[in-house]
Amino acid sequence: MILVTGATGYIGSHTWTELLSSGEDVIGVDNFSNSIPSVCERIQQITQKEIKFKKGNICDSQFIEAIFREFPIKSVMHFAASKAVAESVNQPIQYYANNIGGLLSLLDACKKYQCNEFIFSSSATVYGNPQQTPIDENHPLNPTNPYGNTKYMSEIILKDFANSTAHFKYASLRYFNPIGAHESGLIGEAPHGIPNNLMPYLTKVANGELDKLFIFGGDWPTLDGTGVRDYIHVTDLARGHLAALSYLKSHQKCFTVNLGTGKGTSVLNLIKAFEQVSSIPIPYEIIDRRAGDIAVCYADPSLALKLIGWKTDHNLMQMCQDSWRWQQMSSQI
Ligand code: WQD
Repeated sequence: MILVTGATGYIGSHTWTELLSSGEDVIGVDNFSNSIPSVCERIQQITQKEIKFKKGNICDSQFIEAIFREFPIKSVMHFAASKAVAESVNQPIQYYANNIGGLLSLLDACKKYQCNEFIFSSSATVYGNPQQTPIDENHPLNPTNPYGNTKYMSEIILKDFANSTAHFKYASLRYFNPIGAHESGLIGEAPHGIPNNLMPYLTKVANGELDKLFIFGGDWPTLDGTGVRDYIHVTDLARGHLAALSYLKSHQKCFTVNLGTGKGTSVLNLIKAFEQVSSIPIPYEIIDRRAGDIAVCYADPSLALKLIGWKTDHNLMQMCQDSWRWQQMSSQI
């Protein structure tokens, strides 16, 4: 059985869906700090599979202990974490307590119950401001905010834990910029409050909830002056987790891979792609750069293809289509 933490969150819910659809037995846990309970019913609707779920906080070691006692967990996919960069700058202690504390609580249980397969949700934020792009896994690690520091430290903790725990193996997956939603439109990115990230903000401008998009900086050293990122469809990202677990099951080897498309897209080009698929003009205003932002970030995804046979297969138009369908359907709830 696979334990999925953060199971009703954006990446967690899409991975839970892919796991169930591929016949895996899963127990999902979440505390709904950045998600809603109805995600469970929607995943059941999509997969027509039995949903096993427990509400709770992974930092509560008694809650985690009870989960491992009740269910025969052999693998963990760990998504539960706080992930807003700006928020982490203002609340570093909460980020260390939640992101590091949660990981330690899980690893304690893994040791006690001989759970030896661990998939960790890391982030391209560990690279900081890249010295060169595309970014491969050997690029220096230099996070520039507490959120990125928690991901960097978590990778170090996993390495030390694996070195001290016979048979334990982990995969650390460094995400680039996940966007899009399940093709059914039943699950997607649903941040509480005003979205920090570009795509959920953009889709709320498109459906009229927000007046216009503010583009953070038009003077970056890029072709059109706006920031460039590696946008990856959340379903491709989810499938990367299944490929990583499959590799761990057949190899006694820990590894770290980037999960990205290898293509950089500017803010203005993402807006153009979205307008093309939605036929909705997106009003925007270019304002000052956002503190902590970088100009360009996109992956060299070749190691993931070579090691675990994974690559993305959704293009930018599909990402925009699926994000828009999700926004339209979730606005009707
Ligand atoms: C993308 C581009 C902005 C909003 C963050 C986290 C990272 C990861 C993914 C967890 C940038 C521009 C954005 C807006 C804008 N999360 N933008 N107006 O900052 O690349 O990465 O999410 O792992 O850790 O840092 O994503 O979507 O916020 O920004 O112009 O209203 O869109 O400047 O160029 P980011 P983002």
